[in-house]
Amino acid sequence: MRVLGIETSCDETAVALVETNPWSTDILAQVVSSQIDLHRPYGGVVPEVATREHLRNLPLLVPRVLKDVNLGLEAIDAVAATEGPGLASSLLIGHSYARALAVALSKPVVGVNHLEGHLYSPFFASRRAVEFPFVGLIASGGHTLLVHALGWDRYIKLGSTVDDAAGEAFDKVAKLLGLPYPGGPEIERVAVKGNPEAFGLPRSFPERDNLNFSFSGLKTAVRFFYEKSAQMQTDPVWAYDLCASFQKAVVDVLVRKSIQAVSQARVERLAVSGGVLCNRMLRDELEFACYEAGIDLIVAEPAFCTDNAGMIAGTAAEKLAAGIEARCGDDINPNLDLFAPEPHGDMARGLNAAIKLKNRQTKEVPQKIDVLAPGEIEVW
Ligand code: KG4
Ligand code: ZN
Repeated sequence: MRVLGIETSCDETAVALVETNPWSTDILAQVVSSQIDLHRPYGGVVPEVATREHLRNLPLLVPRVLKDVNLGLEAIDAVAATEGPGLASSLLIGHSYARALAVALSKPVVGVNHLEGHLYSPFFASRRAVEFPFVGLIASGGHTLLVHALGWDRYIKLGSTVDDAAGEAFDKVAKLLGLPYPGGPEIERVAVKGNPEAFGLPRSFPERDNLNFSFSGLKTAVRFFYEKSAQMQTDPVWAYDLCASFQKAVVDVLVRKSIQAVSQARVERLAVSGGVLCNRMLRDELEFACYEAGIDLIVAEPAFCTDNAGMIAGTAAEKLAAGIEARCGDDINPNLDLFAPEPHGDMARGLNAAIKLKNRQTKEVPQKIDVLAPGEIEVW
């Protein structure tokens, strides 16, 4: 089965084609159009700019992905799109495009939770079959989340951030230090030159049984040291040290809580994803800590840590292959919850996703436009 996936939850337009095989799901082709350069002058994502870009990009990227593997639209067995969480206007573009394409091709359309895509992406990127149960860490610009994954659609929240997400903290600290957006890669670049022990920065929630995160105290401490050092120091080395110390503080907390979560959930596997997992120090320290604790660490290569459509198409393909009811709501949900999914309302389901107007049942060409009350429109 081949599934075309569309991801437009934030500032990346991504399209991928995947194919299921008996063991796992393989990527056939994928393309991501990054908008970072467009948003950089504003210091963050501008929703309207992102939306217009998605609208412009999708009709170009879908044929491009198919052309890459010399396949036509008829090769697609199902279409998947991110349903939420994310920016409402951006989600709407990808979701509407996917539904329209599915109706035109008479194929099923599947709405995917972006967070479920992230949870699955390390398995997918490593060409491994997804193995439940596991603990998932998602650390991105919008989320910092520890999840006990028991099976598809069966997730228990172990911990999450009470304020900023880890990636958001990187972005805000970078802004404070005058570094461009997005801050994570910039801080990492500068931190290489600094001493991670130079500044004593706070680590939130040291209690063993507390798996929540907080990064606002850390951000305030960085601001304090920044203002003090900027007045007193002339040698720029202090700025390198501050970046290195901040990065180490975030990495320490993410690694320690992830290992605690695995032990608390009594599982053997830790699957990690999200843009912050591109960070080399975080990847190295996770690898070391998991090796010491005998945990099977599943980490995606960087291209699959950040937002991508492979994880959306792959999640849909795996769920369809597992016989899980593939469904697509008739609306996006910017706050879609992984733990208590919103009821999907009236489903536009699979092959039959089409609105049938009553006056089309006759062969006669209607001579006037019927104004239909909501109850007169059948969704079937
Ligand atoms: O997953 P992602 O691409 O988009 C969201 O869903 O948010 O994550 C983007 C976030 C940004 O906050 C960015 O600063 C952070 O991931 N990031 C990094 C690195 N690369 C990206 N953070 C730390 N180190 C990196 N190398
Ligand atoms: Zn994401």
